[in-house]
Amino acid sequence: MALDDIARESWATRVGFILAAVGSAVGLGNIWRFPFQVGQEGGAAFLLIYLFFILLVGLPAMLVEFSIGRRAHLNPVGALREYGGDAWKYVGALFMCIAFLIMSYYSVVAGWVVRYFFGSFTGAYLEDPEGYFLEIAVGIDALLFHAIFMVAVIVIVALGVQRGIELAVKGMVPALIVLLVGLAVYAATLPGAGAAYAYYLSPDVGVLAEDWRSIVPAAAGQAFFTLSLGMGIMITYASYIAEDQNLAEDGVMIIGFDTGLAILAGFVAFPILFAAGIGPADPGAGAIFIALAGGFGEIAFGQLLGLAFFFAFSLGALTSAISLTEVVVSYAIDEHGLERTRATLAIGGGMFLLGAPVTIDLVMVDLYDILAAEILLVTGSVLMMILVSWIDPGKALDELSKGIGDLGTLGDAWIWLVRVPVLLVLLVSLGLAVVGYVEFLTGPFAEFLGG
Ligand code: TRP
Repeated sequence: MALDDIARESWATRVGFILAAVGSAVGLGNIWRFPFQVGQEGGAAFLLIYLFFILLVGLPAMLVEFSIGRRAHLNPVGALREYGGDAWKYVGALFMCIAFLIMSYYSVVAGWVVRYFFGSFTGAYLEDPEGYFLEIAVGIDALLFHAIFMVAVIVIVALGVQRGIELAVKGMVPALIVLLVGLAVYAATLPGAGAAYAYYLSPDVGVLAEDWRSIVPAAAGQAFFTLSLGMGIMITYASYIAEDQNLAEDGVMIIGFDTGLAILAGFVAFPILFAAGIGPADPGAGAIFIALAGGFGEIAFGQLLGLAFFFAFSLGALTSAISLTEVVVSYAIDEHGLERTRATLAIGGGMFLLGAPVTIDLVMVDLYDILAAEILLVTGSVLMMILVSWIDPGKALDELSKGIGDLGTLGDAWIWLVRVPVLLVLLVSLGLAVVGYVEFLTGPFAEFLGG
């Protein structure tokens, strides 16, 4: 069954759509990537710019995807073709490549989460949080759990049981909120908490002035990644929303959930890392894993709570991964007439192979991740924004007004915001990202290749 069939019924309710979109948005981006980026980019200065991108860029960009999607009632490739004309189908094809790339390493990181879930049964990570992470994050272990996660995704997507997503999200989001709040309260009692909050919450203008060239593209990339923007996922979901639904309200709600969960993860990660005497930037991609393992090692019923946490976290990664895989599979079915099981096996298998090299070394995570988030997602969104704001704003305004009524000057403000300031900021960010990526390729990555 294609996503169309299922989604057309189940998205019939507003809650169903919001749950599905939240399920796609809430995942590794919030709990793994967000604290990792904050730690890499100097703390509160990053947080400030990130929030700027979420509100001033993320929301307008989400509405761009929503209005393209609901208008066309089609997959991203078809929807873009329909909105802008035949040439835009190539942009849709680019989106499929982005989804393919993101899913390939997403599955490796999700494999770490699954590994921690299994580790919770024996308490394997409690003894030596840092050592454990370094041991499981690369090598044959990582490859094995990458395979396990990918198989789970393939089975779910092949069976077409997206209906389960609503159920998973209904359990996962509240569980994550409760567990993260509990951990944040515990973390607040730790000796290093004050310093950690200062690091996390009070922006240092000096850091910003010095490092804006890397903070800006990192914050933009994180905003797009965490909100599932920039490659047409929200086009797909919006294609199933009823005409009388208020898209702006839905966007605000989805963004609220997503951002709240990420900020909460920071309240857990930094006090624990500070208390353990680990610098916030040191653990890199391991930040949240090392912090959580350290925290669970110290509190009552830590092992049991760890089990619950990594279970909910695995579900979060799974619902996002399903959206990434499903978008490519349903495209292959709709546009190329492939049969679902075969398409899923071929695409999932391909994603597994592309992700396999990521398990060689942690530097490979950066190689994939910076390209995907800071360059490709931003490019994808810029293209959609050019279409909607410069080429044909009328269609999008008309679509957005359904379910809201007369948009008045707010509608024009949206188009103008996207047309000039948002696009300018994103183009600057894109330029900085390319420069940063070249520096990465010629610096740390070249070093890694040279041994
Ligand atoms: N937003 C998800 C997360 O934070 C990941 C994700 C799912 C995604 N679909 C996407 C990212 C589409 C970019 C584009 O884990």
